[in-house]
Amino acid sequence: MKPSQPTNTANTRIARTVGVSFKVALLTATAMAVSVATAQNTGKLKVGLMLPATGTFASLGTAIENGFKLYVQQQGGKIAGREVEYFKVDDESDPSKATDNVNKLIKRDNVDVIVGTVHSGVAMAMAKAAKDSGTLLFVPNAGADAVTGPMCAPNIFRSSFSNWQPGYATGEVMAKKGFKKVVTITWKYAAGDESVKGFKEAFEKSGGQVVKELSLPFPNVEFQALLTEIAATKPDAVFTFFAGGGAVKFVKDYAAAGLKKTIPLYGSGFLTDGNLEAQGADAEGIFTALHYADSLETKRDKAFRTAYATTFKLQPDVYAVQGYDAGQMLGIGLNAVKGDLSKKAEFAAAVRAAKIDSARGTFTVSNAHNPVQDFYLRQVVGKENKVVGIASKALADPGRGCKM
Ligand code: BEZ
Repeated sequence: MKPSQPTNTANTRIARTVGVSFKVALLTATAMAVSVATAQNTGKLKVGLMLPATGTFASLGTAIENGFKLYVQQQGGKIAGREVEYFKVDDESDPSKATDNVNKLIKRDNVDVIVGTVHSGVAMAMAKAAKDSGTLLFVPNAGADAVTGPMCAPNIFRSSFSNWQPGYATGEVMAKKGFKKVVTITWKYAAGDESVKGFKEAFEKSGGQVVKELSLPFPNVEFQALLTEIAATKPDAVFTFFAGGGAVKFVKDYAAAGLKKTIPLYGSGFLTDGNLEAQGADAEGIFTALHYADSLETKRDKAFRTAYATTFKLQPDVYAVQGYDAGQMLGIGLNAVKGDLSKKAEFAAAVRAAKIDSARGTFTVSNAHNPVQDFYLRQVVGKENKVVGIASKALADPGRGCKM
């Protein structure tokens, strides 16, 4: 036996000591894991709201926040037993500030979930940050096709639409109405470009022709030169994507230029949603396609509209519905994992399997995590977007480029 080697007895003692400290370490590790899991299950749920509070989309941000908070309030302020705590950032609909803004929520506030945003360019920066960090993201408006396309991820969900969807649905409607030559006009950024692309896909498939594509930078509202060009081109109709404050100015300028009487104006429904008070008589009669309308008259929609109007003393719009449904989707996922957000695969599977009972009508979520939903043909009558038909039934975004 070499002097440096311990005796059997010593060996046994060392083995026992090692065994005991290993067990202590194991127990400590297990206890820590249990307490982390418990914290994940029962601690406050930190929700980061990244929405526009200023600029042309400010009122859209307010409606989304109201809708989300209404859902949480109806659950007694808790989802899956976890009290909801809010953290807020005004993203100003400014893509150049988006990465810094979203990192305030992810790195500074350490939120569990982010809900945001309205503007497609800002949402793409948020999706990248969510994908890189693994933070759960619910997009309650921005339609950027890439979010549920090439940027899709197990932790990213959308409660609204892809830009392709309302554009495509409006293209189907305008082809059926018999228009042959159309001019498009929009803001030059992802939402405008992709809405026009979706519109063209459906319209040209049915033999229509887009004779001119006009645009101006977001959020400019100097429409005069472009309206003069439309008048000179004399198309059968115009397709447009504008929203929020910019949409109010466009509808008013279109009428003031005398075009309303001669060239029918169509659009993705954002053109006239949530802003009819401000558009007044100039919006009367405009046709749009969207996944929500003011006169659905279902039991579910009536209950939502009453609760929203009672709580906020405001009429709801599509943005409020999308905010509420972001809450519903979060609730479905979180209840399925009993509040434990580390169970990401189970969370996603529950949302994908759900039939979401929305004010817009029941919808499901595609494999790329985008709503599969009905698009309504609506017409402005007084202060309402009235349903006059179905533009496209259970329309699913193609989810091009999504690998999940
Ligand atoms: C967007 O940027 O994706 C968007 C903004 C307002 C309404 C609809 C879409």
